[in-house]
Amino acid sequence: PLAPLPISINGKPYFHDGDPAMPLLWFLRDILRLTGTKYGCGIGACGACTVLIDGKAVRSCVTPMQAAANHKITTIEGLETNALHPVQQAWIEEDVAQCGYCQAGQIMAAVDLLQRKPKPNDDDIATIGNFCRCGTYPRIRRAIARAAE
Ligand code: FES
Repeated sequence: PLAPLPISINGKPYFHDGDPAMPLLWFLRDILRLTGTKYGCGIGACGACTVLIDGKAVRSCVTPMQAAANHKITTIEGLETNALHPVQQAWIEEDVAQCGYCQAGQIMAAVDLLQRKPKPNDDDIATIGNFCRCGTYPRIRRAIARAAE
């Protein structure tokens, strides 16, 4: 039998005793029912499934449980503590979302960017590379700039 894999998600401890190759996204959505993180392409291309592992943005659809084990995962559900995260607040103030599907991933990627680059320029923001089929990119840029203030 496989040894259960320990994993911390939004500050709570869990174990995964299934297939170690299972994508983290499946664990979040199907087992924990943390459905804020979205499934888009499943091949690491779109960014809809972005979560933080030890504070760094990763695409959970291509992250196996064995790679996520023993790390701290933060999902969109874990971003808000007592109040909205400043990036979430900026997203609301700039009214970023259209259909909304990619937005949790966009926000998680923005949180990671702002940790690395507290005053990002447009080129820095472009490195995020998460797709938005509604084309909310101008509002995403404004929200990130607002959160950086
Ligand atoms: Fe993971 Fe598209 S669903 S990158």
